[in-house]
Amino acid sequence: MIETTTESIDDFLHHKVTDRLVADVERVVRAAAAAEITPRFRQLAAHEIEEKSAPHDLVTVADKRAEEYLTRELAALLPGSCVVGEEAVAADPTTYEAIRAAAPVWIVDPVDGTRQFVHGDPGFCTLVALALDGVVVASWTYAPALDEFAVAVRGRGARLDGRVLPAGSPTPGADLRVATSHPDYTTDDQKRALLGLRTDGVAPRPCGSAGLEYLAVARGDLDAVAFSWELAWDHAAGLLLVEEAGGAHLTRAGVPFAITGGNALPFTAARDAATARRVAGLLSAGA
Ligand code: IPD
Ligand code: CA
Ligand code: CA
Repeated sequence: MIETTTESIDDFLHHKVTDRLVADVERVVRAAAAAEITPRFRQLAAHEIEEKSAPHDLVTVADKRAEEYLTRELAALLPGSCVVGEEAVAADPTTYEAIRAAAPVWIVDPVDGTRQFVHGDPGFCTLVALALDGVVVASWTYAPALDEFAVAVRGRGARLDGRVLPAGSPTPGADLRVATSHPDYTTDDQKRALLGLRTDGVAPRPCGSAGLEYLAVARGDLDAVAFSWELAWDHAAGLLLVEEAGGAHLTRAGVPFAITGGNALPFTAARDAATARRVAGLLSAGA
């Protein structure tokens, strides 16, 4: 049974999302990766890798064990909170519903970029977001093999390894660098919308780990992402990171993306509001 709350976002941020909690979550995320992910990097046996719904959708023993670790430790940090984790939802899709509950919810992607992890590529990360009433209030993005840790707290900014992240703006006159959903994983309608990005002045490329693409936007290494799926664990952490670094997100319908779902897809998150409007415009023109 999920508890409901009438606590306002501001009260929750002030009273519950303390510097202590933010540091405790970082400690838990680092410990989960050290215990369950890093020791298995480039060490996986074939039987430790499985396909989920589709051949490109992989899960490993590291994903499962890291999620179990995070679920146990995060719930203990915040009494009354619940956890929505990618692998728990794969086992029981009804657990995704907690995203829409009014109680605080931890949204967990234990390994984002499992394909990269399986292939020995360091471009994977662990994503944790804390949301209340559909609003992401804090997020943690940890790439253990790259030794990078990014944290965002609503209204308090975004930091990478302790340094403030300003996303900045694209270089005037340069092609807009946009990471997009892989065409194999999109509907025909979404493919048409993404074709709107195949125009002069835009350089689209297929995305890697979604969480690390958001981090690239937040640090100004990428101008925008354009994604066509809305599973909260892939986006919640990164969207707050981009927002708190000064960026913005918009769906194809021109409104901010909602982690609770029902968005007009694809959507974009970009280094600044003008770029988000430009990319959302191209997506709706392509549709
Ligand atoms: C995936 C990665 C991948 C993206 C997929 C995601 P997972 O997450 O972010 O780069 O293209 O759509 O599902 O399965 O590795 O956690
Ligand atoms: Ca993911
Ligand atoms: Ca995952």
